[in-house]
Amino acid sequence: MVKRGKFIVIEGLDGSGKGTQISLLADHIKKTGSQAYFTAEPTASSVGGMIRDALGGFVRRDAYELSALFLADRIFHNANPKNGIKRYLSDGIDVVCDRYYYSSFAYQGIDADLDWVMKMNLECKDIVKPDLCIFLDVDIDLCESRIRENRFDREIYENVESQRRIRKRFFEVFDRLMGRENIKIVDAGRTIPEVSADIIKIYNELKES
Ligand code: TYD
Repeated sequence: MVKRGKFIVIEGLDGSGKGTQISLLADHIKKTGSQAYFTAEPTASSVGGMIRDALGGFVRRDAYELSALFLADRIFHNANPKNGIKRYLSDGIDVVCDRYYYSSFAYQGIDADLDWVMKMNLECKDIVKPDLCIFLDVDIDLCESRIRENRFDREIYENVESQRRIRKRFFEVFDRLMGRENIKIVDAGRTIPEVSADIIKIYNELKES
């Protein structure tokens, strides 16, 4: 029987360096001769497109509506038979996902009722629970300066006040999930190699477990 793959989620605020760190993790996985499927939310599905229009501020959506769109996109991301997360895991392939339901809790869980957002995601049978979530934690001011350097247009959440509330929410959510989920907080305010070394160490520990 094929051993189920590991499901790893990388989370962090906008400008926390997720993209850089995910590509360094990909290099490491390749070097070790292992294989992993790299994916992200929102996905490239049609619902993902509706979400991006809302994030870009082109279409206004209520927080509950946006939560439901992320939920639908996540169900598709897990369950679609062609390249769904479930399929890779059952084929024995590890999955690394850039953002997952923790982002829904932290971002939508501010304007929509957090209990409701959590319940919808955590109790859905089609949404797989990750084996590991790594949260890249950075100072809000550092995120802001990175966003300022790299972004031409800002998405609806990309402002200091929202990011501050979202970071606080992430920690509240992690507290609530303690003992139920495997969540590791990494100080991502250090140099790129230092942060990467920590992520690789956590990944290797999971692989050996
Ligand atoms: P995007 O620009 O695609 O990527 P990045 O993660 O590099 O910023 O932005 C995704 C945005 O979507 C980000 O602002 C967080 C938000 N988001 C939610 O609000 N809820 C969710 O459930 C997810 C997965 C993302």
